[in-house]
Amino acid sequence: MPEKPVIIFDFGDVLVEWKFQNLYCKVFNNDAEIELFLEKTGLREMNRRMDAGYPFAKGIAELSAAHPEYARELGWFNTRWGEARGPQNTQAIDLMRRLKEQGYRLYGLSNWSREKFDTVKDELLFLPLLQEYIISGDAGVTKPDERIYRMLLKRIGRPAGECIFIDDSEENVFAAEELGIRTILYRSVEQLRRELANMGIQWHRVSSRIGGDDMKYEEVSGIRVPKIGFGTWSIGGKSGADPAGDSKSLAALRSALELGYSHFDTAEIYASGHAEELLGEAVRASGKNRADLLITSKVSPGHLRPEAVLKACAQSLKRLKMEYLDIYLIHWPNPLIRLEETFAALNQLVRAGKVKHVGVSNFNLKLLRRAQELCETPILTDQVPYRLPDRTYAENGVLAYCQQNDILLTAYSPVKFRSIKVNSALKKIANDHSASTFQIALAWLIAQPRVISIPMSFNPAHQKENLLAAELELSPDEMAQLSNLYSR
Ligand SMILES: NC(=O)c1ccc[n+]([C@@H]2O[C@H](COP(=O)([O-])OP(=O)(O)OC[C@H]3O[C@@H](n4cnc5c(N)ncnc54)[C@H](OP(=O)(O)O)[C@@H]3O)[C@@H](O)[C@H]2O)c1
Repeated sequence: MPEKPVIIFDFGDVLVEWKFQNLYCKVFNNDAEIELFLEKTGLREMNRRMDAGYPFAKGIAELSAAHPEYARELGWFNTRWGEARGPQNTQAIDLMRRLKEQGYRLYGLSNWSREKFDTVKDELLFLPLLQEYIISGDAGVTKPDERIYRMLLKRIGRPAGECIFIDDSEENVFAAEELGIRTILYRSVEQLRRELANMGIQWHRVSSRIGGDDMKYEEVSGIRVPKIGFGTWSIGGKSGADPAGDSKSLAALRSALELGYSHFDTAEIYASGHAEELLGEAVRASGKNRADLLITSKVSPGHLRPEAVLKACAQSLKRLKMEYLDIYLIHWPNPLIRLEETFAALNQLVRAGKVKHVGVSNFNLKLLRRAQELCETPILTDQVPYRLPDRTYAENGVLAYCQQNDILLTAYSPVKFRSIKVNSALKKIANDHSASTFQIALAWLIAQPRVISIPMSFNPAHQKENLLAAELELSPDEMAQLSNLYSR
């Protein structure tokens, strides 16, 4: 088997933010003023020389002598250099961690003065992941000088064509290409993941853990729930069982399980219980460990008296052929039955180990608060309709309340709306991410704290797309545009 390619990372603005602006916004009014200062003083060029080993104190003293009007600001570059540093890119670092776990050898190549590097190196989370790195301060030359690339290639001991170089600077990438190194011009983690995947680099591990290693989660009340789960409305029929469609339903569940979905949402009412039967069958056939899956089911509003709740739960478990439910929800409130009665039974089910977590569905804020009072364990979720054109539960305060109280808001029917395919603003954002409008609609939902979703699809390609929506990263501007899209 051919050896895995070696992956080389630049540091600044790929793995850790570094900008003159972070420091100089403290003294200048805007970017234009900062640019003028950099241009007039030649600090940028001097910085490059210092990156290559020229002593900081000497370099800054020379510039200050030539531009005494900027002596204070230039002095800062030596004394307050650390303030130019921004946050570390934890998502990229996480990706590196996974690549390393998959056996890829990771290297670093960065323009950085040894003097300043030593002041921060212990804080850089990515350094321990690297096999080796070269910084320009030690090499005596900076990128894009080809000598520094050659130095690293020599240490790696592999042909240039077996290395992938990731950098945010076009000239650095171009220089690497000239030497025959494969390159990625870094723009975002999402684009990096895509380009690595296009190069055949694999870091997705089919995991036995809930949701797989690449899945994003919400963690509340001691449980990790994947941001994207799988709905089962219309599995096995609609309101009544329709066994004629069983093979189609089982195929859909099988592909969802194979793709790595691990949270399945069902209900006693779906296909009159047949959805639960098929879900149980598909889980057993998959050979997956029950403990690696999360199963949600729901008790119907007609079954909210205590005896009926206990019976409904027992029947759901029987149909699923499972010992317990991870999450059990009241499907809809029933104004004719007091919540105290229902919760007496739900609490009993938790104590008996039949149900691990209790939640509600279609509950407004008042009812949700009441449920919290009555439940002996934290209410895990309120499952409600939430999608780009339906903000009812954001507007009625449930979303904010969930976010403030560590309750998951499970967005149901997240992609069920007609304009999803034709809305031009949605399409534009989708094109910019090389994604589908369905993925953008999901990404917008799950980018919100404490929001998870459970899209349903019979189509394996759609199922995969929906799972991958968790990897999209929308910018704050895109989030705002989407939030305003359908607002009244
Ligand atoms: N608690 C409640 O009261 C309640 C109410 C409603 C739903 N739910 C739960 O929420 C789950 C999801 O809601 P839902 O099933 O109503 O609606 P949904 O998941 O928003 O939409 C499902 C429909 O969208 C299509 N679809 C899904 N992903 C797609 C993609 N990537 N590209 C193109 N088409 C796509 C599917 O068709 P294809 O099969 O062709 O992909 C299907 O027709 C339900 O299954 C159920 O578990 C709960």
